[in-house]
Amino acid sequence: MATNRTFTMIKPDAVANGHTGAILDDIIKGGFKVIALKYTRLSEDIAGQFYGIHRERPFFKDLVSFMSSGPIVAAILEKDNAVEDFRKLIGATDPSKAEPGTIRNKYAKSIDANAVHGSDSDENAEIEGSFFFTAFERF
Ligand code: PPS
Repeated sequence: MATNRTFTMIKPDAVANGHTGAILDDIIKGGFKVIALKYTRLSEDIAGQFYGIHRERPFFKDLVSFMSSGPIVAAILEKDNAVEDFRKLIGATDPSKAEPGTIRNKYAKSIDANAVHGSDSDENAEIEGSFFFTAFERF
């Protein structure tokens, strides 16, 4: 059964380009409630842990380096069918393939700097939310 929460990060490219407010606005207008929110910067070690599942992929080093290159905004979001609906709202991983109106279509420039992360399953949404927020912060 689908849970009603997902996890997102506004990535360093979008934060650096001043899109944080517009992206949060799109998320809220998309029907998501912000349950927890954090502005922070990942070290290479923390980014490597977060993306550990991709350790064997050819882009892993670039991904970790990019995700630790500047501040990010992490959030837990709530909505019915949250994981699937959020991935629709952000669009395809490669922004050149993202539908018009999606967050990546509007704010991302390339597959490596693609503006936002969205959990790909209910299980990973729970793991990723707990990685960033204590139980007290995600009540
Ligand atoms: S997805 O959305 O998880 O199904 O996409 P996937 O292709 O599995 O990619 C996993 C994450 O790696 C990022 N990515 C890349 N980073 C750097 N360079 C290249 N070439 C590249 N290709 C994919 C992609 O943005 C995914 O990051 P997250 O944060 O999960 O969106």
